[in-house]
Amino acid sequence: MSFDTIDTGHDVQVLPVSHPLQEGRTSASPLITTYQGVRGDVTPVWFMRQAGRSLPEYRELRVGTEMLDACLNSELASEITLQPVRRHGVDAAIFFSDIVVPMKLAGVDVSIVPGKGPVLGHPVRTARDVRDLPTLDEAVLAPISEAVALTVAALGDTPLIGFAGAPFTLAAYLVEGGPSKDHLAARTLMHSDPAAWAELMQWTATITGAFLRAQILAGASAAQLFDSWAGALSLADYTSKVAPASALALSRVHGLTYTATGANVNVGTASNSRAAAADEQLPTERAVPIVHFGVGTGELLKAMHDVGADVVGIDYRIPLDEASRRLGGSVTLQGNIDPALLAAPWPVLEAHVLDVLDRGKAAPAHVLNLGHGVPPETDPAVLTRLVDFVHSQPAGS
Ligand code: CP3
Repeated sequence: MSFDTIDTGHDVQVLPVSHPLQEGRTSASPLITTYQGVRGDVTPVWFMRQAGRSLPEYRELRVGTEMLDACLNSELASEITLQPVRRHGVDAAIFFSDIVVPMKLAGVDVSIVPGKGPVLGHPVRTARDVRDLPTLDEAVLAPISEAVALTVAALGDTPLIGFAGAPFTLAAYLVEGGPSKDHLAARTLMHSDPAAWAELMQWTATITGAFLRAQILAGASAAQLFDSWAGALSLADYTSKVAPASALALSRVHGLTYTATGANVNVGTASNSRAAAADEQLPTERAVPIVHFGVGTGELLKAMHDVGADVVGIDYRIPLDEASRRLGGSVTLQGNIDPALLAAPWPVLEAHVLDVLDRGKAAPAHVLNLGHGVPPETDPAVLTRLVDFVHSQPAGS
């Protein structure tokens, strides 16, 4: 599969002057400089699914509102995004939305069933189904841009991470019609009708790339592509049938740049001299950092980096030093606390976190996160304590 004929040149654009990276509000933050490969004094930390059911204030706000309606209500989405930043003091917000939002905005019949996940009205199984998928008019992304703008105005110098689902993970829901363990129907289609598969991947790449680009243009300072279910694939299938579509989606944000000038050129403060010194080696013309994450993707790490990511997110199955080795020792990592240990006694969790931080030193730089999302039953006080603990630990190698 190849999308060589697609011209992405028109996507090269300098971010608006009011963008937090361009203004310098977030460009020297621990998260952004660490994503750019500079190890500072402290390890930045945020949690996948930090916004959501683990927070009583979230559960209260969501009463009577369906998940996708909450995502499309700009004020509600913004407030939910801010909740974990206020409560835990994490180093980043992640935009409250869902990977299926761009499908919904394009007109696909999709809903999110509590306790289950995305469910499609009509699974996409044939070439005809693929041809019938609606075109996304980018104007419908306005509620997303509005929610992002509201959020970054409230966040000050804390960066917002924009995100999108990778084409394969979206296609897995479309073809299966809902959540699936092994994604058999999607894996069958990619081999039984390669042309329909390529067209489906191009469609998902287009809508998800537009969703991600809209978030960055509206003020997000980094991007994370979730290929949650890519771990179901062999390396050969991932490389030939999926990676080109992920690269196409990311090409929509690769061309978005900002200029680090004045105070932005020197990240950090006098107390963060290592970061400031290292920053001198960074170019002043910089790209928005991109993280790529998947579950059970230990065999795919290099291929996932090669689609155009700066940082690779590692799940809890593989230690960070081994992940770094597989990536040639030169790639910034994010991860990988086992979410199961959030419910363990504190000394057990603390020992695990120290081990993760220690193994993370094998990589050039490391952002602490979980190896997958926060389980809904997590005690939020544990997450707050974890943030304080990580911030109390020296990050230097
Ligand atoms: O804090 C954050 O991480 C930001 C918000 C976010 C959500 N979904 C909110 C959400 C993000 C980044 C996602 C991405 C997402 N959605 C992924 C990729 C990440 C991953 O988990 O691997 C996937 C696979 C989905 C699809 C999806 N949406 C699932 C499997 C579910 C769970 C269904 C359930 O009820 O257990 C959802 C719903 C969803 N997305 C919730 C939240 C907060 C729960 C809905 C609720 O609270 O009612």
